[in-house]
Amino acid sequence: MSTHETAAHETVFAGAVLAKLEALYPKYPDKRSLLLPALWMIQEARGWISDGSVAEVAETLGLTSAYVRGVVTFYTMYHTHPVGRHFIQVCTTSPCGICGAEDVARALVKETGCGDLGATSPDGRFTVIEVECLGACGFPTPILIDDDFIENVTVDRVPAILARYI
Ligand code: FES
Repeated sequence: MSTHETAAHETVFAGAVLAKLEALYPKYPDKRSLLLPALWMIQEARGWISDGSVAEVAETLGLTSAYVRGVVTFYTMYHTHPVGRHFIQVCTTSPCGICGAEDVARALVKETGCGDLGATSPDGRFTVIEVECLGACGFPTPILIDDDFIENVTVDRVPAILARYI
């Protein structure tokens, strides 16, 4: 079973994962400050962060589920539903927008077969979303595929870029 197939009812914070989390405690001022790394661990294990996962993180760190959910929904890197194997974020904020970012977003949706922003391709390979400024306003259009930051993306470059992600 791959880590993404971990059954939802199994606790993530046990064994090696719990030890990894606990090893971080001395580096943070208090337990609640571990929220972001704890959420990464959940997402790494399950592929996304369900309501059950929110509750598990809250209980582990002594926080409320509402607080954890607020953080999860604030950051676009946390997934609140299942996504494709490769998660693509494209900046369409105004500076990139006037340089063609929306055309790039449309090309990404078309080439991946996702059909729409936020949807996952039928083969489960990609999910594409629009995001606000990725902090590379001088190099439009920037996109983030998983952990890979790619600048100066144009419609013409989209097929070759996607071909790198199986
Ligand atoms: S506006 Fe697109 S990276 Fe800043």
